[in-house]
Amino acid sequence: MPGAPLVSAVALGSPHVEQLGEFELRVVDFATASRAELAAALHDAEGLLINSHVPADASIIELAPRLRALSTVSVGFDHIDVAAASRRSITVCHTPVLSDAVADLTLGLILMSARRLNEAITIVASGGWDDALLGVDLRAKTLLLVGLGRIGQEVAQRALGFKMHVCGYDARPDLPLIAGVERVPTLADGLARADFVSLHVDLNPSTRHLLDDAAFALMKPGAFVINTSRGGVIDQAALTRALGEGRIAGAGLDVLETEPPAAGDALLTMPNVILLPHIGSATVETRRAMLDCAVDNLATCMRGEVCRYALALS
Ligand code: DGY
Repeated sequence: MPGAPLVSAVALGSPHVEQLGEFELRVVDFATASRAELAAALHDAEGLLINSHVPADASIIELAPRLRALSTVSVGFDHIDVAAASRRSITVCHTPVLSDAVADLTLGLILMSARRLNEAITIVASGGWDDALLGVDLRAKTLLLVGLGRIGQEVAQRALGFKMHVCGYDARPDLPLIAGVERVPTLADGLARADFVSLHVDLNPSTRHLLDDAAFALMKPGAFVINTSRGGVIDQAALTRALGEGRIAGAGLDVLETEPPAAGDALLTMPNVILLPHIGSATVETRRAMLDCAVDNLATCMRGEVCRYALALS
């Protein structure tokens, strides 16, 4: 007798297909499926596997009246209507197994910004040479981490190794800090002191446009903004204004409000802006670990067991 029906919006191979062998697995390409095809596929589905490119909004959840578990191959869950899932008692699981990869990339962006590596690469690639392209030291510079969760703490450890002064702001006052990190009382206080501001928060209504015109006005003219979290945490129009008017020194962005950016976006041509195509978790090891984790989460929930990576839904 076939097991519970599952739909995966993510292409799966071995060993994941075997791991889900006790269930009736169907892979559906959500990008090309019509609404009717999605409705037909989801009608009986009890489990759904997606990634951050597949929005699971209320209208998708509605198509799956028997859904019990929704597993995403991502740590972020802003593409899921968690409230709609919660109302239906659907367990939502994510993959918080990418902290090292994202922290490594964050340090990469800090180093690239400090030493103007994108400008240096462009000069040499276009036949030039400039050994007086001055950057700034990281030693003794202040790094403000906005968000002191798993990824923020990994970034802190690395930045301490570069002899930076690391301070952090987190709306959760009880979150334990690692040794050597100073907690700032308010975001405004941290922004006014920082040479580098790095964002490590979820995107939700309380963090959307956390860095806006008012926030950029508080920052030092020599400061850099680094974002490896979600584009929407920064008001991109405000960032573009702050950069264009020289109110901050530069930005290193792995995420944007619109991905990919529109052709003609002013950020694309600013020499002091580094743009990456959302590759924070893009290492062979981490992407594999994320898929393993998401498949395991789904199987665990479908068996009625407690999943350690289920979101606590209110
Ligand atoms: C995540 O896992 O949330 C990464 O940002 C990829 O979307």
